[in-house]
Amino acid sequence: MLNFEFKNPTKIIFGKNTIEKITEELPKDAKILMLYGGGSIKKNGIYDQVKSALKDFSVEEFGGIPANPEYETLMDALKIIKEKNIDFLLAVGGGSVIDGTKFLAAAAKYEGEPWDILTKPVRVLEGEALEFASVLTLPATGSEMNSGFVVSRRETKEKLASGGPGLFPKFSILDPEVIKSIPKKQLANGVMDAYMHVLEQYMTYPTLATLQDRIAESILQTLQEVSQPLLNEDYNYDTAGNFMWCCTMALNGLIQKGVPTDWAVHAIGHELTANFGIDHARTLAVIAPSHYRFNFETKKEKLAQYGERVWGITEGSIDERAEKAIQKMEEFFKSLEIDIKLSDYTKDYEGISDKIKDTFIERKMTGIGEHKNLTPDNVKEIVEMSY
Ligand code: NZQ
Ligand code: ZN
Repeated sequence: MLNFEFKNPTKIIFGKNTIEKITEELPKDAKILMLYGGGSIKKNGIYDQVKSALKDFSVEEFGGIPANPEYETLMDALKIIKEKNIDFLLAVGGGSVIDGTKFLAAAAKYEGEPWDILTKPVRVLEGEALEFASVLTLPATGSEMNSGFVVSRRETKEKLASGGPGLFPKFSILDPEVIKSIPKKQLANGVMDAYMHVLEQYMTYPTLATLQDRIAESILQTLQEVSQPLLNEDYNYDTAGNFMWCCTMALNGLIQKGVPTDWAVHAIGHELTANFGIDHARTLAVIAPSHYRFNFETKKEKLAQYGERVWGITEGSIDERAEKAIQKMEEFFKSLEIDIKLSDYTKDYEGISDKIKDTFIERKMTGIGEHKNLTPDNVKEIVEMSY
């Protein structure tokens, strides 16, 4: 097991009817900006629940943050924060709204050009951002309990990540009942994203971090167990709750401690969203199988362990079990009705592998993955294997 430090200051308030608890958690004299997305919260009653909890607070609103939060839109929110002297942000939404809010929390106190926070990137330390909290409406990203965020700029087809220890939410409300109104496609995205978050921190090489491995495997198994009832049966509170808690646990920092992590699938996937607008989770389903096959030799022991412990594959050599494990993973993605080839999403992929290669070179991402040795040429090949 590798050395590690672990601190996660986010208070989680989980369960039915917990949205009203924001009243107890918010600083009483704060000037709050409530941020939300394209309007789903106005249709499903979450907006009303939050507004009613906020009735005795000083609150401004900013709606319209799009999926894959857009820099230009966030800059409009930043103006309001400055003009109205806002000192607390409340994100009500999924990963996009929470990520946008994290960017704003950092930008509000940043002296330079806000875009630098993403391009340099600036690591935001404790005390260097505005305080903020979230009411999660879409389990998927884990943003509600981590300190990372991703912002897009459509104009330049960029999608960049940043973060730092100053960007954990003060608290996050996790009421599983919010999932009642989520379209099936978004639920599938949530399962997919959380599943890949676990794999990015697990599918590397053995390090004898036994507890981390077993926690990771149990999150994968729980996601597998809940996915069909979640997608294809009537709403069930416990299914919703287990799904929601898996998503949070998959990326709150716990399972990455003491182990090497990969994150190449996300790095490449972000380029597919930036170039084609493909949903974040679906880009992962496209890249992961190719990535694992391309890096088969260095990952086969963990692949075989995953095959055995998560899918019960006990027959055959390590190579055979590892390949079967990839096939099981692909079947699982398809069981979520998620396509796993780039050509299923766009016919316009000619030249994209070179473009992504060039982007990686420009950003000096010349050694990615757990061994930091995947080159832009390797990335190009992985993208081509996913056509
Ligand atoms: O905008 P509204 O109208 O609210 O609709 C949203 C949006 O269209 C809808 N939705 C959310 N809650 C709902 C709901 N619809 C009905 N009922 C509800 N209760 O769902 C759509 C997608 O929402 P979005 O927030 O974009 O999805 P997600 O949570 O998957 O977030 C994706 C973003 O997070 C980033 C991704 O790259 C992407 O930009 N990620 C953030 C990470 C992090 N901070 O740690 C890690 C991830 O790997 C990921 O990169
Ligand atoms: Zn993700």
